[in-house]
Amino acid sequence: MAETEFDVIVIGAGPGGYVAAIRAAQLGLKTACVESRETLGGTCLNVGCIPSKALLHASELFEEANHGTLAKWGVKTSGVELDLDAMQGGRKEAVKGLTGGIEFLFKKNKVIWLKGHAKFTAKDAIDVAGTAYKAKHFVIATGSSVTPLPGVEVDQKAIVDSTGALELVKVPGHLVVIGGGVIGLELGSVWRRLGARVTVVEFLDQLLPGMDGEVRKEAAKIFKKQGFEIRLGTKVTRAEKKGKGVTLTVEPAKGGDAETIECDTVLVSIGRRPNTEGLDLDKAGIQLNKYGQIEVDHEFRTKVVGIHAIGDVTPGPMLAHKAEDEGIAVAEILAGQIGIVNHEVIPSVVYTMPEIAGVGLTEEDAKAAGHEVRTGKFPMMANSRAKTNREPDGFVKVIADAKSDRVLGVWMIASVAGTMIAQAAQAMEFGATSEDIAYTCHAHPTHSEALKEAAMAVTGKPIHV
Ligand code: FAD
Ligand code: NAI
Repeated sequence: MAETEFDVIVIGAGPGGYVAAIRAAQLGLKTACVESRETLGGTCLNVGCIPSKALLHASELFEEANHGTLAKWGVKTSGVELDLDAMQGGRKEAVKGLTGGIEFLFKKNKVIWLKGHAKFTAKDAIDVAGTAYKAKHFVIATGSSVTPLPGVEVDQKAIVDSTGALELVKVPGHLVVIGGGVIGLELGSVWRRLGARVTVVEFLDQLLPGMDGEVRKEAAKIFKKQGFEIRLGTKVTRAEKKGKGVTLTVEPAKGGDAETIECDTVLVSIGRRPNTEGLDLDKAGIQLNKYGQIEVDHEFRTKVVGIHAIGDVTPGPMLAHKAEDEGIAVAEILAGQIGIVNHEVIPSVVYTMPEIAGVGLTEEDAKAAGHEVRTGKFPMMANSRAKTNREPDGFVKVIADAKSDRVLGVWMIASVAGTMIAQAAQAMEFGATSEDIAYTCHAHPTHSEALKEAAMAVTGKPIHV
């Protein structure tokens, strides 16, 4: 095979693409991965999951020291100071270590990194930096980018998107977050903990669309208690830069009188859209759906034979672990094996404090799908470990089918919900009933006992409430 010919060429080295490339190479396929960024790892490792979690962790430590949480446990601190440069240094180090790690894995697995922007020239050929490459199979894993908001132009100084919000060199006096979704609440939490006043402007009448209704309501209460100012049912119509600050014009989403909000930084986080521009998909014969996504079947095949697509560029939740699992599955399929992703069981986590997590159907979706449901709820306040740790906020909710008792969804707010949700996902993957979870012995004292008790509550038999 010529040097410019491959069994598989993956376009994009985010969690979907780099994982697909590594697995394809492990399975003996001659594999290349095209990436136009300077470093591998895509949105997630460079400007998404990893840097945001580094700042969430560091800001949480700062808040614990600065606001007396540690002192309540007898750990007295005085003169707590923020060294934002050092904190940002920690973020950069985390990103450098992990992106470098992918480069090492590419070399180890003999994945060729084609540096540059890929565009199709035919259905079996692409151009990267002036060189033509051919492959038997292509996997499009080009990910997503920030959705712009008309009238609010991002300059990455006073008006930032998530990338700019990760790189601020000064704590804003007043940060306005447009969009009360995952990015707004995670990055809003970072800057609130470090001292900013934070206002969240959300178009809908609740935060966190897509999550269970009770979780959304409780989350709003908790965030307000933490000091967030939350303006629900409100839209931003204009942003005007004045000196170093910004004047935002807002009005009720359903129409009404406009008013202004003064602030020094604005974060635009109203969602993300698939990256397909400049790929010349028309030359490959691929059309986009009305959301700009590439449609695929359950084996990640597009309508064009030989071209597959995975991750954020395809329909479904825009999550790194969904992209990764699809990466593994598509590579296994291309190598002639069976590759499966159960899209009914993809957990999602918001890494605020407390964390918010869910898997499967919300109660609203379960009812809309025609299920008669039985739910069980257990408050973290009654969980011995959470109470001992003084982490009383939140609850676990199990949604089961009333006839079969099969678990349809699990939703929770708890300090370690992101870790606890894995158990719920695994139980659902194995087709568990609420009784299966209720009769599984859970170690004491752990936060996970709240899941067991919520499962016991489905049949009205929790012990500790
Ligand atoms: P991406 O990671 O977007 O990677 C696509 C890559 O393709 C990019 O590197 C891009 O440069 C490259 N590319 C695009 N077009 C071309 C081309 N034509 N030629 C060559 N290269 C190209 N998800 C979670 O699950 N957990 C989290 O905690 C989390 N936190 C997040 C925090 C933030 C601030 C953001 C913005 C996102 C977060 N996400 C999180 C979402 C997660 O980052 C994405 O779901 C995930 O990165 C999608 O993976 P992907 O492989 O589909 O695409
Ligand atoms: P999002 O879809 O989570 O939230 C966007 C919010 O903006 C929604 O609540 C929406 O109603 C609101 N909105 C839309 N237009 C608006 C307007 N004009 N004015 C006010 N509000 C408006 O999108 P977000 O937060 O930008 O994140 C993008 C994606 O990145 C998420 O969908 C998620 O998949 C991924 N992500 C995942 C994380 C995680 O897993 N922990 C962390 C961060 C991002």
